[in-house]
Amino acid sequence: MAIQAVAMSPAIGSIVHGLDLSKDMSDGTMRDLIELLFERGVIVLPRQMLSDADYVRFAGFFGRPLEFFIPEHRNADHPEIIHINNDPATPLSVRDGAVHWHSDSSYEAEPGAVTMLFGKEAPDAGGETHFASTTAAYDSLPEEMKRRIDGLVAIHELGRAPWIEGETQPDPNRPVRKTDAPDHPLIMTHPVTGRKGIFTSGTAYAIHGMDDAEATALIRQLREHIVRPEHRISYKVQAGDIVLWDNFGTVHCATPIEYSDEDGKRRLLHRISTKGMPAFSGMAA
Ligand SMILES: [Fe+2]
Repeated sequence: MAIQAVAMSPAIGSIVHGLDLSKDMSDGTMRDLIELLFERGVIVLPRQMLSDADYVRFAGFFGRPLEFFIPEHRNADHPEIIHINNDPATPLSVRDGAVHWHSDSSYEAEPGAVTMLFGKEAPDAGGETHFASTTAAYDSLPEEMKRRIDGLVAIHELGRAPWIEGETQPDPNRPVRKTDAPDHPLIMTHPVTGRKGIFTSGTAYAIHGMDDAEATALIRQLREHIVRPEHRISYKVQAGDIVLWDNFGTVHCATPIEYSDEDGKRRLLHRISTKGMPAFSGMAA
């Protein structure tokens, strides 16, 4: 069965209709979903009813599911599943930690591949996530800029990127995994599709061979270009939605959310992140 998908915008995002993963995780369907994800950057699969075990199995088609580093946030039976909620008991230092444009784990030597959220509870108001296509953003750069940045290598670390409008800088006391500030090419050739994309994430803060002021200005300029309206969508994860994004082809930004345990205001998301290559890799080569 070919899956039915509706584009959310010309540049990024598709919603898949008529698919019930509890009945169909066949190789053919999963191959189509993987292909669609990497073509569109973000896909939404509404009205899913999967057990935790089946959700982890589903995630395994998109790379190697990771076990999260903060044990309190993990699902007891499935350490790959991280619970994200707006419980008022959440420490201030952890709140709104994702209200900046980034791709996941870009401050590590091996960046995240695919991240997915399974909506369990959604607040009546608020809670949207913004997404932008870094491949569409590369395509729309002036040729002169493409030539200028081709071959540059950026240095990444959490909390040091030049900020752009609308972002909330993470709390310096936030618990983060310490890294050794890895290098990544500023223009990333996508490991699955071979398309080029701008890979600043929210962590590039310096560029080899360039003085700091020039690098800061260039990184800020590229980050502002990525999030231009024509490269973007916003989506609010509803209960039953599985939303997946490709961290090599997109960046995302959470919106601030009210912390509450009242009916109609709670949010619960089950997140899984992967690294490595999807199943059937090589199919798009
Ligand atoms: Fe994120």
